[in-house]
Amino acid sequence: MDALKRAAALAAVDQVESGMVVGLGSGTTAAFAIQALGERVRQGRLRIVGVPTSYDTRTLAKACGIPLCDTIDIDRIDITIDGADEVDPAGNLIKGGGGAHVMEKLVAALARRFIVIVDESKLVPILGGRNYPVPVEVIAPALPFVTRCVQELGGKATIRNGSGKLGPVISDLGHPIVNVDFGPIADPLRLSRQLDSIPGVVGHGLFIGMCDQVIVGRSPAESPKVEVRPFPRTVRYSGGEWL
Ligand code: A5P
Repeated sequence: MDALKRAAALAAVDQVESGMVVGLGSGTTAAFAIQALGERVRQGRLRIVGVPTSYDTRTLAKACGIPLCDTIDIDRIDITIDGADEVDPAGNLIKGGGGAHVMEKLVAALARRFIVIVDESKLVPILGGRNYPVPVEVIAPALPFVTRCVQELGGKATIRNGSGKLGPVISDLGHPIVNVDFGPIADPLRLSRQLDSIPGVVGHGLFIGMCDQVIVGRSPAESPKVEVRPFPRTVRYSGGEWL
């Protein structure tokens, strides 16, 4: 699988040009892109500033020699490159397997172009089809309320627990995460808006109509093929609302 992830990552990195501000996603697939960007930076072939989406990515990007800045320092990002847990035929995503989805959505929304890189195992006919839960980051005092709300929407909620720590995972932003299993999601845009409107929800892992391109690494692993799927971005955050 690594070869397919790397192939998709390299095809995305080829679209990065000197002078760009680049959003750096989180997870194992994004890590291949960050390593490739770092190599080009070290060789003097690329001059970029990266915007990390997690502490994990920040550490890797720093080690790779990529100059970094934060979302509070910039108005716009040229390209964001990130992985996903599920991708449907319309380019809608479930993200947040690594718990970084709130920052990932911000960095994707700031980008002129949002490129998603996946291996072929991430493609699904319908979101939730692999029974992948939708992660919902919540302020701690709202946990019981949000749990009831998502149950009313048909989800089964489980607080995400850590390994190497007893009890709940706390995100980089300081909040617990509820994994919500909705099963196959017939209307992901509607569900996304419903989750957005629950008081106490910081953010969730449904990314609907946000990406401009999905790059899929396809087998065989010995000589992976890359499929580039363009999508007209249907959703942008503008003037105080998602349009
Ligand atoms: C991190 O929170 C996630 O959104 C990742 O981008 C997603 O889980 C994909 O991760 P992998 O590339 O490791 O599968």
